[in-house]
Amino acid sequence: MQESQYIWMSGELVPWHEAKIHVLSHVAHYGSGVFEGIRAYETPTGPAVLGLQAHVRRLFQSAHIVEMPLRWSEEEVAQAIVETISANELCACYIRPLAFRGYAELGVLPTTCPVELAIATMPWSTLHGEEALEQGIDTCVSSWRRMAPDTHPAMAKTSGNYVNSQMVLLEARRNGCAEGIVLDVAGYVCECSGENIFLLQDGVLYTPPVGDSILPGITRGYAIQLAADLGVQVREERIAREALYIADEIFLTGTAAEITPVRSVDGRAVGASAPGPVTRRFQEEFFGILQGRLPDRHGWLTPVHALAQGGGR
Ligand SMILES: Cc1ncc(COP(=O)(O)O)c(C=O)c1O
Repeated sequence: MQESQYIWMSGELVPWHEAKIHVLSHVAHYGSGVFEGIRAYETPTGPAVLGLQAHVRRLFQSAHIVEMPLRWSEEEVAQAIVETISANELCACYIRPLAFRGYAELGVLPTTCPVELAIATMPWSTLHGEEALEQGIDTCVSSWRRMAPDTHPAMAKTSGNYVNSQMVLLEARRNGCAEGIVLDVAGYVCECSGENIFLLQDGVLYTPPVGDSILPGITRGYAIQLAADLGVQVREERIAREALYIADEIFLTGTAAEITPVRSVDGRAVGASAPGPVTRRFQEEFFGILQGRLPDRHGWLTPVHALAQGGGR
């Protein structure tokens, strides 16, 4: 990872290597953290955070789901994010807020452990590499299932949930694939280790519904908005595994993955084994907006300088 100078730790900016927690902190043992992955893009008018409010809101929703009360408001957290980007003098960067249960008692019950918040920002480029955005990635269906609805709260972005993602990704990489596609307990397509999934079939875009053990991705929401802009019908419905094999196009969405085309699933080519025309159109619109080549017509971006001066949304 590329380091930057400061990390915001529960209210103050501390030097990167001093942002430490005690080894007996609750989060280290019981996965009691909720976090976000956010990005800032370099635009002609300076750095701008993609989906700042949406990500901060999801952080608070995740915390609420797992009964982790934060002692900051959403506005304060958004401001702290912008402050950290500015202090680190970053343009394009990845932003990682992590709220977690800290050090007090050792035991599963979290209530005595204080809730802390760290915000790190760092230079970062692509998840699967530039080539992946251009040519697509190879994927395989995981032997691991996404958690059942009444086990872990899938809609909350908790640290503990990412044991599942780790198992999926370790297996996929061992099998020579960039990503694993995870099915739900009933065997329907869910998402990947860190991305939501979209399938195009006969001009209609399919994606699993929120509530089907997926993380409700912010980028997933943007893809649905773009589909409306481009006149592509979207159906949020259960998807059978075999639909992956006959899809005309498949792409993954995520803050880290952006819009990544899939060129194969389980060794079977998707379309012409290269990103299809609809996926390309989505990428053009998405990156066009983020890089300031197209107007930010949906208000996705928050200019860092505007918020740093107290005037942004
Ligand atoms: C399991 C999982 N699904 C989907 C996503 C995509 O979410 P977003 O678009 O908000 O980054 C992520 C990334 O955070 C993820 O970890």
